[in-house]
Amino acid sequence: MIQWIEIGHLQDIPRLGARVVTTDWGNIAIFRTAGDEVWALDDRCPHRGGPLSQGIVHGKVVTCPLHNRQINLTDGQVLAPDKGCTHSYPVKVIETGQLLLGIPETYKQALQLT
Ligand code: FES
Repeated sequence: MIQWIEIGHLQDIPRLGARVVTTDWGNIAIFRTAGDEVWALDDRCPHRGGPLSQGIVHGKVVTCPLHNRQINLTDGQVLAPDKGCTHSYPVKVIETGQLLLGIPETYKQALQLT
């Protein structure tokens, strides 16, 4: 089962930027596209752990700031010719603009958007 947790407001995240939710199991990067879509990935590149939240968002892709691997925001898959995957989470915007992050109920609660 998924548990939906309020993590802030869409306006808290700049377009083509990201914010980080700190959790007991690691940081989750919340990305906002130019079209106001939001996506959530572990803030850890599958290559060498680069902070994806500090990467460049273009389309539905983020480019890792360390070695430029490109990661699909929709599923965490590294784009070819590179390989790898980082964990993705469901995230949605409700009518008020509040962001809800979906995490497995077995995980501890997210703390806050920073
Ligand atoms: S750590 Fe992300 S590309 Fe190397």
